[in-house]
Parts: sequence; structure tokens; C-alpha cells
Amino acid sequence: MATMAKRKKRRGGTATLAPPSEPQVRPGIVGLGRQVPPGITRPPYIPGGEPGPARSDMVRTADEIARMRKAGAAAAEVLLLAGEAVAPGVTTDKIDEVVHEAGLARNAYPSPLGYRGFPKSVCTSVNEVICHGIPDSRPLAEGDIVNIDVTLYLDGVHGDTNCTFFVGEVDAASAALVKETRVAMYAGIGSVRNGSTLNQIGKAIEQHANRHQLGVVREFIGHGIGTEFHGVIQVPHYYERRANLQLETGMSFTVEPMLTLGAPQMYIWDDDWTAVTVDGRRTAQFEHTLVVTEQGHELMTVTPGGECAADRHA
Ligand code: MF3
Ligand code: CO
Ligand code: CO
Repeated sequence: MATMAKRKKRRGGTATLAPPSEPQVRPGIVGLGRQVPPGITRPPYIPGGEPGPARSDMVRTADEIARMRKAGAAAAEVLLLAGEAVAPGVTTDKIDEVVHEAGLARNAYPSPLGYRGFPKSVCTSVNEVICHGIPDSRPLAEGDIVNIDVTLYLDGVHGDTNCTFFVGEVDAASAALVKETRVAMYAGIGSVRNGSTLNQIGKAIEQHANRHQLGVVREFIGHGIGTEFHGVIQVPHYYERRANLQLETGMSFTVEPMLTLGAPQMYIWDDDWTAVTVDGRRTAQFEHTLVVTEQGHELMTVTPGGECAADRHA
């Protein structure tokens, strides 16, 4: 997701809090970035890593939408495969391998690899990690929850989708968090149609979160997407009066709420990527890429059969 605003890094932000009741995720060893064969087309920010300011039109052409269906379907398929690989003892680096190879097999470039220096092909965010976790040597443990965020670049456009998976059996609070985060995402998406106001997405998400006493992370937001990984549209997952863009048929963006069991405040690890909750409690996320239509929306990140990880694992 796009970052809402640059904030000063918090260090030692947990010092005044009671110790979390469960062991916290610790950084593991990050292996080398994986190789991409020369035949696979790179996105424009490779090799430098800097995408530059977002500047593409908010509305996609019919041809771009047709290509986004394919990129989105590929991302949805790869996310389903990644979810099938989730099990106790499997490292997040193994998930990276699965996503990388499945992406290449579909002739796609894994968009995170080299994006602003991100070292791996997918984001894997475990338990209290909100987003942008870097796959590493840590094995998934029974009872963990893990968000896998897949973005693929295919035929000149990106498809971006994520799902939070259970590792074996999880406690009731974690199960409820994941379930309601998925419902919140679909509640936000449900407000989308030609002529609706963008801030109704965040309003619906925030209302659902409030009803279940869950926090809404504010620092990371949904984003325009298409030829650019992160386009100009900004989608807060809370009600923001000023986000009053009137949606038009053909606009494309992501909806990707991050909800928390405790307080939604975050800080970022020294790796400059991994965002975690300050209070160490768990957090979940779901994401789809969609396009605005006359009557509603079309989800780009579903398989040709209309399947997606969020619905299979619901
Ligand atoms: N896929 C994330 C999003 O939803 C962005 C990840 S950027 C990365 O926007 F560099 F961390 F991969
Ligand atoms: Co996104
Ligand atoms: Co994503």
C-alpha cells in the first residue's frame, strides 16, 4: 500500500506498555533476492528502484482494463498457491520462492522485487506485523496468522492482492480478527460505483471495525494501480472527509484495510520496511484490485473462474 505520510521512526515505543502476552516476531535471516530471467519484462522502476512521482491518469483505457484482468487473475492464482504452501515449519522465505516461481511461470515480474529497494518478491507479515514484512528464515508456527501480499506485473500493468492465512489452528480472537477484516474489505468495496464518493469506502470499513472493537491502521492506504504500482488515487481505510473524489467508471485502485486487535499505532523496524503494532497485538489485512463500473465495481484479482484466496479461506 502507499504510505500516507512520512513519520518519524519510533524506537523503543513499547517501553511504557505491559509486555505482550505472546512471543513477538523477531527478524530472521534475509536471503538473496531471487533471479528473474531476461525474457520477463521488468516494470519501469527496475533497476533503479525509484518509481518517481505517480502521474498516470486515474481512469484506465479499455485495453488497460483487459490487461489488468489478466495480471489480476495471475496474482489471484499465485496467492491461492502461496496459501496452499502455508503450514507450521514452512519459512516465509519458502513462501517467497513459491510466489516468485509461480509468478515467473505466468510470465510475470514480482512487483515488490527491487521496488524502492525491497529485497524479496512478496511481503509476508506474521502476527503483529501490519504489512511489508520481508520473507526470511523464520518458520511459521502453529497458531500464527500470516498475510501474504502478492503483486505481479504482467503485460505492462500490476495486479495487487493479499490475504491473511491461518497456520494450523489459531485462537478465537485471531480468527475473529481475520474474519472481520475480510468482511470490512468487502464492505468498503461494496460502496464503490460510478458517482459514489471515495471516502464512503473508508467509512464502511471503519464502521465495521468499530462494531467489532477493532482498530484501523491509518498510515498505509489503498492506491491507484494500473501501469503504475502506486497511482495517484489514495484510499484511506477510515472516514476522511477530504477524500471526496467522485468515482468514475474506469478508475482503478486497491482496497486493503489493516485492522488490529489492540491499538492501531505502528512503528517500523530498523530494516526500514517491517511495520508492526506498538502494543505487539495481532493485525490482519485483505486486499483486492478493482475497477469502477457503471453499477458497481469489477474485481481484477480473481481467477478466470472467479475464485480468490479471501473467499476460499473464509
Ligand atoms: N503490495 C503492497 C501494496 O499493497 C506494496 C508492497 S511494496 C513492497 O501496496 F516493496 F513492500 F513490496
Ligand atoms: Co496495494
Ligand atoms: Co499489496
